[in-house]
Amino acid sequence: MERSPIIAPSILASDFSRLAQEVHAIEGAADWVHVDVMDNHFVPNLTIGLPVVQSLRKATSIPFDVHLMITDPQRWAPGYAEAGAYNVTFHAEACDDPVALARTLRAAGAKAGLAIDRDTPVEPYLELLPYLDTVLIMTIKAGFGGQAFMPEMLDKVRDVRRRAEVNDLEIRIEVDGGIAADTIEQAAEAGADAFVAGTAVYGAADPAEAIRKLRGLAADRMGPA
Ligand code: DX5
Ligand code: ZN
Repeated sequence: MERSPIIAPSILASDFSRLAQEVHAIEGAADWVHVDVMDNHFVPNLTIGLPVVQSLRKATSIPFDVHLMITDPQRWAPGYAEAGAYNVTFHAEACDDPVALARTLRAAGAKAGLAIDRDTPVEPYLELLPYLDTVLIMTIKAGFGGQAFMPEMLDKVRDVRRRAEVNDLEIRIEVDGGIAADTIEQAAEAGADAFVAGTAVYGAADPAEAIRKLRGLAADRMGPA
């Protein structure tokens, strides 16, 4: 099976006063739209929540990739699946029963994702891969856009990719933080196949063109699965 890259622009770097237009600007070019939900508790920052996702869903057909940087995801995550999110990712650090929540999300019709923050090792979670559709490896500390990519996080990507291959698991490995033209190739080489990009897309003069460029760079470095 050939893997093809998923490019998921993060609207965190877009103009929140024009969210629908900002999503329209990536339609036809992006695979997913990445929505960073922050609760001023799990992370210091505060962004948007379920009402905005519900409204924005009606404005586009791009699949939603919801990244929940919140405490108590057991309580809140299912609502995003019910709102029609394609993939709902919650943080390992915030959840004491990731398998149960992943099951709930899948039952609600979404893909289930587990996010691993900068300071969290991935080894304890490798056993959970069969229950997950996506593993999101933070390549920064979660909380803010525009931070510098941390290449040392790619060891976690390699660990997940190795385990997925050994056990013949279908899983998306997503990287998030500082992904741009000068960093996406090394992430793809390490085994990532889904790429969040905020600043690199919405900071560009032509977001759709920036996406195409990122996709080309990633595809060239992604071997067959
Ligand atoms: C930060 C968010 C990221 C952020 C990435 O915690 O999870 O998705 O939007 O932004 P860039 O691509 O600018 O690093
Ligand atoms: Zn994110």
